[in-house]
Amino acid sequence: MSSIPSFDLKRNYERVRQEVRDAVDKVLESQHFVLGPEVKAFEDEFASYLGVPHAVGCASGSDALLLALMAIGVGPGDEVITTPFTFFASTSCISRLGARAVYVDVDMDTYNMRMDMVMDAVTPRTKAVLPVHIFGQMCPLEEIASELKDRGIALVEDCAQSFGAVRRVDGNLMRGGAVGDVSCFSFFPTKNLGCYGDGGLVASADPEMDKRLRSLRVHGSSATYFHDEVGLNSRLDEIQAAILRVRLRHAEQWNEERRAIAERYRLLFAAHDLLEFVTPPVELEGNRHVFHQYVVRAKDRDELQRFLAQRGITTRVYYPLSLHLQPCFRYLGYKEGDFPASEALTRQVLALPMFPELTPEEQETVVLAMKDFYRR
Ligand SMILES: Cc1ncc(COP(=O)(O)O)c(C=O)c1O
Repeated sequence: MSSIPSFDLKRNYERVRQEVRDAVDKVLESQHFVLGPEVKAFEDEFASYLGVPHAVGCASGSDALLLALMAIGVGPGDEVITTPFTFFASTSCISRLGARAVYVDVDMDTYNMRMDMVMDAVTPRTKAVLPVHIFGQMCPLEEIASELKDRGIALVEDCAQSFGAVRRVDGNLMRGGAVGDVSCFSFFPTKNLGCYGDGGLVASADPEMDKRLRSLRVHGSSATYFHDEVGLNSRLDEIQAAILRVRLRHAEQWNEERRAIAERYRLLFAAHDLLEFVTPPVELEGNRHVFHQYVVRAKDRDELQRFLAQRGITTRVYYPLSLHLQPCFRYLGYKEGDFPASEALTRQVLALPMFPELTPEEQETVVLAMKDFYRR
């Protein structure tokens, strides 16, 4: 029986092994491990890739979100509008600062937060809006960006899953992470741009924000042993930065490969008459989706997942419980039925194998197994 993983980092490592080893060797020879030349060079290269002036490396995507909200000044009494259909860290950063998450529901086709619902959720306490470009596709931020600016509400982009995503509006190119006041990236190994441990980054256009972020990541200190405020210890290390510099040079190519795989899945579903059972992800007009995950809506999802597992095919459920129903967020006062789209998705979504090195034969095996399930 074939075995098809949901992702395979080893196959990816094969493609960059020597470059990575040389880069890591250089750091080992230098014996400079924390906030040195590799971090500085990576921050500059990342900022130039993104087209924003400032980028600050930190210890993880979760910390990037926390640092961004701290830099904006989010605290007790504030509200942050966000999506309930995402990874835990997109809301935990709000709670950790004593602020309140205010959810708006998501779109059933793109799984992204509904931009048309955001302004209705604004109150005098709204300090920030935190959209997540889920699974690799940008939210149409142009629908809210200028209104938020007029009202003095910060726009924080969670780009953990969307490295390389782009959106074209009226001929203008918007890169995910270059639209909001501040944007947060994760370099967790499975991400589209991943390192070989934990890592994250916060990008911003404002030099004052950049200064604050740089201080916050080293215990709120701008001069050694003098502390203006209580920050975090959240730094990107030299080895991870050196690895990221290598991988940044290849990430566009890998994103193109992900896009080709997504297109092949779509054609295979159509060719095998599966579209009455399986709804592929929708790419909005003008968007360059980078398919961090390839997430379909599937009829009889749980049975399908078990059937595929018996055939050696690993799939994942992102996410099985909407955040407004998580026990730790019960204090927010939401209940079942409050966000019907998010709740429906938790019962329908299935992430199929997706990584740049997935072969056409493996994709065919996945889709034929799905056909066997639905036509059984
Ligand atoms: C949407 C989203 N936000 C934030 C994070 C947190 O990133 P990290 O795992 O690097 O802390 C993740 C990571 O999976 C994520 O998917």
